[in-house]
Amino acid sequence: MTYIPNPSRYKNMPYRRCGKSGLMLPAVSLGLWHNFGAIDNLENARAILKLAFDSGITHFDLANNYGPPAGSAEETFGKIFKDDFKNYRDELIISTKAGWGMWDGPYGDWGSKKYLVASLDQSLKRMGLDYVDIFYHHRPDPETPLEETMGALDLIVRQGKALYVGISSYSASETEAAISVLNRLGTPCLIHQPKYSMFDRWVEGGLLDVLGDNGVGCIPFSPLAQGLLTNKYLKGIPEGSRAASHRGNGAIEEDAITDDKIAKVIKLNDLALKRGQNLAQMALSWILKDDRITSVLIGVSKPEQVTDSIKCLENISFSKEELEIINAILE
Ligand SMILES: NC(=O)c1ccc[n+]([C@@H]2O[C@H](COP(=O)([O-])OP(=O)(O)OC[C@H]3O[C@@H](n4cnc5c(N)ncnc54)[C@H](OP(=O)(O)O)[C@@H]3O)[C@@H](O)[C@H]2O)c1
Repeated sequence: MTYIPNPSRYKNMPYRRCGKSGLMLPAVSLGLWHNFGAIDNLENARAILKLAFDSGITHFDLANNYGPPAGSAEETFGKIFKDDFKNYRDELIISTKAGWGMWDGPYGDWGSKKYLVASLDQSLKRMGLDYVDIFYHHRPDPETPLEETMGALDLIVRQGKALYVGISSYSASETEAAISVLNRLGTPCLIHQPKYSMFDRWVEGGLLDVLGDNGVGCIPFSPLAQGLLTNKYLKGIPEGSRAASHRGNGAIEEDAITDDKIAKVIKLNDLALKRGQNLAQMALSWILKDDRITSVLIGVSKPEQVTDSIKCLENISFSKEELEIINAILE
């Protein structure tokens, strides 16, 4: 059956300007790292993407290595895009990345021009797209000159294979250097994608200042610490959860669900309830309270989690006292 998106899809989602660029992103974006691989259920993936778009989520984030197996999330997305979204290409911001190990030999990893250009060509084929909206270098490469990696991003934009470029997991000083090389080349850095959640606050130690000062957007990943910052693990590890699934490829494992973490989660959950939210919603609101954040990048295993998580938008302000309580819990 032909998919007809919800005509009211733009009514409730706020769109935030990405740094000082012309691009607006939804306050909540959807990532396809897990639950979209060849091992996952295609119809569940389709239902998630449709519900997200129906809810005003215009940005879908991928990478060459998402799956498993690597590449298969882009293939899944390509199938669903062809069936359901091809008439809506101009309403979508689709990103992909390269930087982690993807194929054998010296040209399928890190940050050479050879790897980045070839990898994006492969990604475009898997997704059946002519171009992506954002192409990221996925992690810093200590060996390749920054000029070469940023030069590859600039080349890709000039070739028309990406509209904008970004970087992921670069430190504050690496980010400053990358921004400066990209400015020199004439292809500004649109956005940075760092890991950021209540349990991992490294970006507060300088990166957010660099991004704010330079007018570069920020889209934090794993804002729920892969599910830990929800009420799901309060009574053990439920079947079907990411921690129980042993998916590999960086997915949370049982040993990350420690007593210390759960003690904090219980206290955070109490505060969330007092704010009229559940913990997942409060954890997302907490990220969005900072106006240097463009969008928060969620992952979901089922459509209901999209509905649940975007309710974070109903309350993204925190009192000074609430922030102090959160800081005390996280100490
Ligand atoms: N740049 C990078 O290096 C990098 C690295 C990692 C991720 N990312 C990007 O960031 C995206 C998000 O990362 P993530 O998936 O780790 O994000 P996350 O939001 O921290 O974790 C997602 C998981 O949390 C659980 N969840 C989500 N909403 C929930 C809700 N409302 N109630 C209860 N549980 C809920 C689900 O776990 P269950 O599966 O257990 O239901 C879901 O799979 C990825 O898809 C990817 O696009 C980028």
